[in-house]
Amino acid sequence: MGWSERQRLMLAEMGLSVWVPDATEEMAVVADAPRPTPAPGPAPARAAPVATGAPRDPQSATPAVPVDHPASTATSPVAALDWPALREAVAACRACGLCEGRRNTVFGVGNERAHLMVVGEAPGEQEDRKGEPFVGPAGQLLDSMLRALNLTRDPGPPERQVFIANTLKCRPPGNRNPEPEELARCEPFLQRQLALVQPRVILAMGRFAVQALLRSGEPIGRLRGRVHQYQGVPLVVTYHPAYLLRNLPDKAKAWEDLCLAAQILSD
Ligand code: URA
Repeated sequence: MGWSERQRLMLAEMGLSVWVPDATEEMAVVADAPRPTPAPGPAPARAAPVATGAPRDPQSATPAVPVDHPASTATSPVAALDWPALREAVAACRACGLCEGRRNTVFGVGNERAHLMVVGEAPGEQEDRKGEPFVGPAGQLLDSMLRALNLTRDPGPPERQVFIANTLKCRPPGNRNPEPEELARCEPFLQRQLALVQPRVILAMGRFAVQALLRSGEPIGRLRGRVHQYQGVPLVVTYHPAYLLRNLPDKAKAWEDLCLAAQILSD
């Protein structure tokens, strides 16, 4: 793949650099070494990421776990809702205990007919405050990766503007992992979002998205790098951006996964 100057700049922003060997070899994308800790002094121009609590489990290091929530919620009344009714249902949801501690539900953002739908895990503190998915440090990384592929969450045509949603619409307290019961209660919302968006490709980020969509407890490292199917829609598995922030070498693999998703989109 040949990279434009703009894409190289984007990759650099993600902490990835394009390594150009001699003309006979293919170009490769490699994860940059961690940046040195800046010396104390004036704040940098870009706001430093704000810690949002203890990180959830690393995505790849976790062993396979059993998937113990119901296999289908197609019979849920949620399956018949249109977009406005679905938004209202999420906003009013009291199906699990997470409603007690939330500031906002986090419905999802993006184009309702997006070609690419990104599925993450659950809102963190900043998402809970703002009511929008992936607005914290992990979201900044996700946005950079999308931008490198000329994709965005900002308003645009369905081939450019993605739709981003989570498996859970409410924040688990203290950034703990979602519980099976919570995932099961929330699942009809994600299923309905997928049915309404009808994406051409799904990008499942992290093990909870993978569990919800593929019913697989396999580690991400064993599922990524190939194309799966969710109800006939191509699905690409990748690492969760929060995991990538702590595991720089896997950024290059995540970039490959995004390129795989982009390739399917362009086919
Ligand atoms: N992590 C997620 O999976 N989703 C968010 O919205 C924020 C962080």
